[in-house]
Amino acid sequence: MIKTILSAAGEPIFHLTAGDASYVISIFHGFPLHLYAGPAIDDDDVEYLLVRVGHDSVVPRPAHTPEGWFSCDIAPFEYPAYGSGDFRPSAVMAKMLTNAQADGSVPVTGGAPTTAVMYESHEILAGKPVLDTCPAIHAADDECETLVLHCADPATALKYDLYYTVMRDYPAVCRRTVIRNTSADISATLLRAYSASLDFTTVDPQAELVHLWGTWGRERHMERTPLLHGSMSVNSRRGASSHYHNPFAALVTSETTEESGMAVGMSLIYSGNFDITADVDAFGLTRLMAGISPDGFEWRLDPGAEFVTPEAVIVLSGEGLGKMSRVYHKLYRKHLCRGEWADRERPILVNNWEATYFNFDDEKLVAIAEDAAKCGIEMLVMDDGWFGIRNDDRSSLGDWFVNEDKIRCGLGKLVEKVNALGLKFGIWFEPEMISPVSKLYEAHPEWALQTTGRPMSISRSQYVLDMTREDVRDYLFETISGVLSSANIEYVKWDFNRNLTEAGSALLPAERGGEIFHRYVLGLYDLLERLTSAFPHILLEGCSSGGGRFDPAMLYYSPQFWTSDDTDAMERLDIQLGTSFVYPASSMSCHVSASPNHQTGRVTSFTTRGNVAMAGAFGYELDLTKLSDEEKDLIRKQTADYHRYYDIINRGDLYRLVLPTDNYNGKTGKCASWMYVSEDRSEALFTFVVIRTSVHPVYFVKLCGLEPKAVYVDQATGKEYYGSTLMNAGLNLTKNYRDGDSVVVHLVRK
Ligand code: GLA
Repeated sequence: MIKTILSAAGEPIFHLTAGDASYVISIFHGFPLHLYAGPAIDDDDVEYLLVRVGHDSVVPRPAHTPEGWFSCDIAPFEYPAYGSGDFRPSAVMAKMLTNAQADGSVPVTGGAPTTAVMYESHEILAGKPVLDTCPAIHAADDECETLVLHCADPATALKYDLYYTVMRDYPAVCRRTVIRNTSADISATLLRAYSASLDFTTVDPQAELVHLWGTWGRERHMERTPLLHGSMSVNSRRGASSHYHNPFAALVTSETTEESGMAVGMSLIYSGNFDITADVDAFGLTRLMAGISPDGFEWRLDPGAEFVTPEAVIVLSGEGLGKMSRVYHKLYRKHLCRGEWADRERPILVNNWEATYFNFDDEKLVAIAEDAAKCGIEMLVMDDGWFGIRNDDRSSLGDWFVNEDKIRCGLGKLVEKVNALGLKFGIWFEPEMISPVSKLYEAHPEWALQTTGRPMSISRSQYVLDMTREDVRDYLFETISGVLSSANIEYVKWDFNRNLTEAGSALLPAERGGEIFHRYVLGLYDLLERLTSAFPHILLEGCSSGGGRFDPAMLYYSPQFWTSDDTDAMERLDIQLGTSFVYPASSMSCHVSASPNHQTGRVTSFTTRGNVAMAGAFGYELDLTKLSDEEKDLIRKQTADYHRYYDIINRGDLYRLVLPTDNYNGKTGKCASWMYVSEDRSEALFTFVVIRTSVHPVYFVKLCGLEPKAVYVDQATGKEYYGSTLMNAGLNLTKNYRDGDSVVVHLVRK
């Protein structure tokens, strides 16, 4: 997987082979430079890619490099440092006295935080070392290899270890950086510390960026935009990865499609403030970098201390965005999600939020469970409102004690009743929050994040707890554990419904203020680690006002996430297909809700609501007691289908055939279509949804991923097709549809 050769100048070149991709690094006069990333190549020494026409007069040249074409301003760096002639966005910027200044031999002068990252030595390790802090990819020793480039700033006591884990079976390279202060007595300050940076040496057709934007109820809409000269950044400064941008972007060219062309994905395993920047310089060279957002970030590195960045996962596809997504799906399902539920079939649940909101009691929940049991639903989830005196969203967060005015029989008894019906029981928490109207706030107002002298902004009538504090985390661990141990609870929905403002901690010294956001995230991970270790059987579902923290790091703890508070099936097409650019079906929680839909008022058939929700961790979010017998029959069919198709959908390959944003060949209205193919290509499940119909439309959809020479049988009609015909001529779906109609075709190889 990792091959080392020596360049003509006697410096190492590393050819990393990840699945069917190559990633080549060269040490050039001490600089770790990037030579290539993409579909596998055979040459190791591709240093020739670096050569540019002479720039000497306009760009600075490092003193130790020969005169000629080399300049830091055009060199493709593996980990670009600030201040010595690379004027593009830098991955690292550190303030520290130079060795000379520290010795006192030269007077200390002021100056910009000039930083350097120069190769010293390297190691190649079997497997992937566990660097304690943020969540990361895990793999067995024979499934990957790790290159560590030990680098240093020759002028200061700072050392930089650049980690590259190369996956054997995936075209994926996982990167993170460890920065160490080796001084015995002098502190350093990190102002930027990205996880990874990737410079593209070759100028391809017009570079474009694919990313996922959104807001509440409209998360992860895919946007594809040409990159112009200058920088484009997707980021969060909200304290959470957020609804607004996902910590993911892909670099593609104007020629890339779903199934062809270059696609380089950069996905950051992190839940806090992040930045992904794509920068195109004057020569058309593109830099793509990902890491903790430098906005407000300032990390003091004491003597002997080290800082470990979150991990960035780079996926290299030469076969379009579809392959990139399929690699992320499998990699995240098998090597990011952990625990008993990582790849296990998830129970079909009914959640009472849209059924009752805050207006429920034990009897109402049991009534819903009774109907659920008759329809093949396997779990009841009791959402917000069961604790403190919470009858609306204005109180009680932090008071995690059962409200026995509502749950009159007590939680233990309620769970027993639900279990007796054959259903599992799940419960909602919003651990990181505190209501100003709560017993907890009366006792510990200092536990809320706040900044001395500044009024605290309120959002959804709540403040955010100071997760950097151990006493806060201990309180949460104990109270939540108390509830979880008091009854047979098999699922937890972990919500997070506001962003961080006036972020300050009573226990953090003023000079460490720039650490608060990252420390918050580390505190969150610590609590999640403690709770998931103490309750390994519990299925954890993440949530953040819908999908406001749907990121890879949360999937490390909670293998499924509530995709969006918008449960409208038509809206979900954009949201779910956008989410599918990175995240596996098993991680997307999708529920059938009432019609007219509560968020949009749109009326959609029960069948289509089911067909759309079937694309993920499936469930219901409506009052089952109000449904007709006909609708309950449909639920019985849907729950049976879910089990029948579970493997194809959740462990198969996804092909996005028509995106809602595509202008579908002008002969039709607006539609969306996707399909899953089982790993051995013996089965496929195709879904087609008409968003807005037109007059006499003509619909042909070309399928993907089948065996061309195999015959596939449509399980509903018995009609037989060759794979080649379905993929090249397409499936003829021409018919007069109504808005919101949908078609599902299950194909089985003969
Ligand atoms: C958030 C979640 C919802 C629900 C409510 C409860 O908005 O996204 O699913 O749990 O909180 O207050």
